[in-house]
Amino acid sequence: TKGMITIDPGFKNTGSCESAITFLDGEKGILRYRGYSIEELAEKADFLEVAYALIFGDLPNKEELAKFHKDIKDESHVDEEMKKILDGFPKSAHPMGVLSSLTSALIAFNPSTVDVSSDEDMYHAIVRILAKFPVLVAWTLRKKKGLPLDYGDDSLGYVENIHKMMFKRPNQDYKKNKVVIEALDKLLILHADHEQNCSTSTVRIVGSSHAGLFASLSAGISALWGPLHGGANQAVLEMLEAIEADGGDTKKYMAKAKDKSDPFRLMGFGHRVYKNFDPRAKIIKVAADEVLADLGINDPILDIAKGLEKEALEDQYFVDRKLYPNVDFYSGIIYRALGIPTEMFTVMFALGRLPGWIAQWREMRLNGEPIGRPRQVYTGENLRSFVELDKR
Ligand code: SDX
Repeated sequence: TKGMITIDPGFKNTGSCESAITFLDGEKGILRYRGYSIEELAEKADFLEVAYALIFGDLPNKEELAKFHKDIKDESHVDEEMKKILDGFPKSAHPMGVLSSLTSALIAFNPSTVDVSSDEDMYHAIVRILAKFPVLVAWTLRKKKGLPLDYGDDSLGYVENIHKMMFKRPNQDYKKNKVVIEALDKLLILHADHEQNCSTSTVRIVGSSHAGLFASLSAGISALWGPLHGGANQAVLEMLEAIEADGGDTKKYMAKAKDKSDPFRLMGFGHRVYKNFDPRAKIIKVAADEVLADLGINDPILDIAKGLEKEALEDQYFVDRKLYPNVDFYSGIIYRALGIPTEMFTVMFALGRLPGWIAQWREMRLNGEPIGRPRQVYTGENLRSFVELDKR
């Protein structure tokens, strides 16, 4: 603290807003969306109704849900010109960078400055992004695989249609796999919101300047990309594959994670708020066993993950620092079983977090929050005179 300013790096002890959307208790490992427990929602709800509840405040009734889904279907075309932007990316481009760009590019083809005083205007912008973002996700994946950019099938459910758009092979019938769709739906629900995490705080602060919804979401996608945040799910798989390549030598990686001179961290472990098991990790761990068993997949990576978890939970360094598996530790194992490429894992996180970002942006604007502009404590040079170039 210097004078009136208290510095709080990473805002570890700073509340940025009041919010009625998500409640979490880091000590007790509790997570609720609009008062509903994540355990119940993951078990009984589907992703679209959770998205509705997060954004509009409560679970929709039959008519509201049907109208929401119909309005989304009516908006699920993407301007053909957008394909030219996608064509501009090399195949090697990371999907998160592509998606952040395409989300921003949507602004050129859709009104995205929302008149927040009009519920109608806000509703249409929300429906447009919930309709078009999954198409961009599917096109980004298909582009990487050299597949034609196509649409899904409006007769399908929201998540099933996303899966079909991502994986439909040319001149092959799309075969629905109930286990896969239910696993995907559950994963998207578990990622849907998480109060003021890094990417959500980014969406809020960008939106606080009254930048449009799509521009704010594009910024959120970039923040989520970082390996300390949503990028961790990709980093977990890369870590587990490295351990497997090292003959399953988990001890070596535990030692690296504790070595202060080594920047390596045990990816998928630790959390700013959860100082106990991340409730989402608990559910995803059980789902990983179920999905792999249902799909008849025996993935040694899952065994390595469980071995690593067991070691970490018994290691004093991790116990002292209350480092437990977080949402990213097991999710990649399921994505892999669903045939999603590792580079797309964080995109799946963004797909799940989209309704949460939208809900938080909407709440921030409806609450008339002021523009985010923190202060600082200056530690640079005192006043000094300019020195001509030939005298420097
Ligand atoms: C998500 O905020 C959210 O809600 C995020 C999220 C969401 O839904 O939006 O939950 C999603 O991002 C989950 C987190 C995914 N990230 C990872 O798995 C990356 C690995 N984890 C860490 O980098 C870290 O745990 C963070 C970033 C998650 C939290 O970091 P903090 O709160 O800033 O804690 P810290 O870096 O100050 O660490 C405290 C201590 C340090 O040691 P000391 O200096 O006290 O000796 O714990 C150590 C750290 O070195 N530590 C780790 C570690 N995480 C923390 N040591 C080894 N491996 C780790 N993973």
